[in-house]
Amino acid sequence: MSHNLLKGKKGIIFGALDENSIAWKTALRCFEEGASLLLTNAPVAMRYGEINKLAELVNAPVIPCDVSSDEDVLNLMTKSMEHFGGGVDFILHSVGMSLNMRKGNHYTDIDYMLNSKTLDISSMSLHRVLAAAMKLDAINEWGSVVALSYIAAQRVFPDYSEMADAKALLESVCRSFGYHYGVKKHVRINSISQSPTKTTAGSGVKGFDGFISYAEKMSPLGNASADDCAKYCVSLFSDFTRMVTMQNLFHDGGFSFTGVTMSVIDQMSE
Ligand SMILES: NC(=O)c1ccc[n+]([C@@H]2O[C@H](COP(=O)([O-])OP(=O)(O)OC[C@H]3O[C@@H](n4cnc5c(N)ncnc54)[C@H](O)[C@@H]3O)[C@@H](O)[C@H]2O)c1
Repeated sequence: MSHNLLKGKKGIIFGALDENSIAWKTALRCFEEGASLLLTNAPVAMRYGEINKLAELVNAPVIPCDVSSDEDVLNLMTKSMEHFGGGVDFILHSVGMSLNMRKGNHYTDIDYMLNSKTLDISSMSLHRVLAAAMKLDAINEWGSVVALSYIAAQRVFPDYSEMADAKALLESVCRSFGYHYGVKKHVRINSISQSPTKTTAGSGVKGFDGFISYAEKMSPLGNASADDCAKYCVSLFSDFTRMVTMQNLFHDGGFSFTGVTMSVIDQMSE
């Protein structure tokens, strides 16, 4: 059911790969709530993903953009200005990639060239997008930017490896740029720290199934689904959350503040 929460708003969605992607579900929700969208993903994802299917569903153009390329990001923001005839009201940054994890390198023995690429794609890309947007004045007054994070930024989850550092950096960029864009144009910037979710990126984490069921047992409300995350994104893009900025917002069914649950105690006592 639509509440027209984003009626008349325009937004860019990064990172919809297939129908499991958090970005995919968010694009569908934003469209349902009345937003006009522009979709983007890495050129390689255009070949392997299904983004064109989504583009048809939400009636949006697709502009390829490797977020680690200054040129691609500037081109994307310029095309967005042309397409919408001005700035956007919201941006979803739903991008992550660990090159060391992909290579199977242990956290204690990483390749630093790959690590810097991981941090560039997963974290500093948000900075690059915001800097290009600021230069071109491509986000409207009171616009809203959301990036996706994970609680490994605060607490240790050994198999999350270098992505823990990437998420800590991403959250820091939200705060630091959130200050500057807030002062300059009332643009708000937040991260959502989402429960483990079955997607292509999520499944790249070793032992993911165990991970997901542990989080489910440790969360009073259970794990938050990608659909729930999409709804939370809509609320942050809407005018009902205008004074929320520079925050890392846990969207995890209570996992982040739970010491232990009876379900886990029962299992440990067996
Ligand atoms: N799935 C989870 O358990 C979980 C939990 C918390 C946070 N997150 C975060 O949510 C975000 C979205 O991930 P997802 O779970 O929907 O998985 P996903 O694999 O569907 O999305 C990740 C996206 O990043 C894109 N990407 C990778 N490199 C890129 C590049 N160089 N340029 C542009 N795009 C690039 C991929 O093409 C893909 O669309 C990521 O930041 C992820 O870390 C995921």
